[in-house]
Amino acid sequence: MDFTSNKRPDDMARINTPELADAFIEEAVEAMRAQVGDGKVLLALSGGVDSSVVAALLIKAIGDQLTCIHVNHGLMRKGESEQVIEVFQNQMGANLIYVDATDRYLDLLAGVADPEAKRHIIGEEFIKIFDEEAAKLEGIGFLGQGTIYPDILESEAGVKAHHNVGGLPEEMQFELVEPVKLLFKDEVRVVGRQLGLPANMVDRQPFPGPGLGVRCTGAITRDRLAALREADAIVREEIDAAGVDVWQYFCVVPDYRATGVRDGKRAFEWPCIIRCINTVDVMTATVPRLDWDLLEHMTNRILSEVPGICRVCYELSPKPIATVEWE
Ligand code: XMP
Repeated sequence: MDFTSNKRPDDMARINTPELADAFIEEAVEAMRAQVGDGKVLLALSGGVDSSVVAALLIKAIGDQLTCIHVNHGLMRKGESEQVIEVFQNQMGANLIYVDATDRYLDLLAGVADPEAKRHIIGEEFIKIFDEEAAKLEGIGFLGQGTIYPDILESEAGVKAHHNVGGLPEEMQFELVEPVKLLFKDEVRVVGRQLGLPANMVDRQPFPGPGLGVRCTGAITRDRLAALREADAIVREEIDAAGVDVWQYFCVVPDYRATGVRDGKRAFEWPCIIRCINTVDVMTATVPRLDWDLLEHMTNRILSEVPGICRVCYELSPKPIATVEWE
């Protein structure tokens, strides 16, 4: 396999078995060692599938010549940053710089209601923080990146749809190390599993770069974001436990309130919308008919366990006309 080429060979077998993954890992490790030599590599590690697999490959190939930076923008799901630290720093022994930028982001986003402005701020701030951290390090010559084959195909076709956090500017003076750039997502997952990454990291659903920021609609407030994070964790836990076949599931907590009664007194709290979809390519999506008992159980848990939420709704809108995310 030619790791310098942007073209996947026509005869390249789909990596769908542990044996094929092992063969790929061996080849990639050798190629990364040859490229990097005794140089140093920096990697933005979000905890998503692609950056996690690249981190695990680089740790295997060059060990402590790799430095990972994980920026917690305060918009991660419950337990996500903690898992990045646990897996990569504690279990794999990686050099990991953890930046808790929660206050920085939430202060910048305070009062910003426009969805595009929110996405822009989140993306720009990521680049600033990454630059600041990179400037503190010496001798970095390479930048690891979780580019996968659909990214190459989409940018060639000019249709790159999402401006993602983690998208770094091209003028950065580093040579790129992109070991999974000829792989499709399903292959990246097989490789990740074979590298020993936890199932919930490898099989993760798509999660927007701006994170919970696009699901805490309008101007984000800390209390509403905290409610969203708790409700989201409950929905994930219950749908996982029920073992139902749903492609993507999450919550949205919009920026308006509804009337309720709590402990005999008037309450004026947020609604929480449960969003579930099934899809093949995410261009279109349908809404699964979730079991009523499951919906009721999630509703009861959210209403009793999450402060600030007094209503739960299940969204019925397919894509199109709705998009999957609310912003
Ligand atoms: P939409 O809302 O466009 O979502 O129907 C389609 C799929 O893309 C995910 N999504 C994102 N993924 N960065 C990403 O990596 C983003 O900014 C982003 N926005 C939406 C969404 O969760 C769904 O799976």
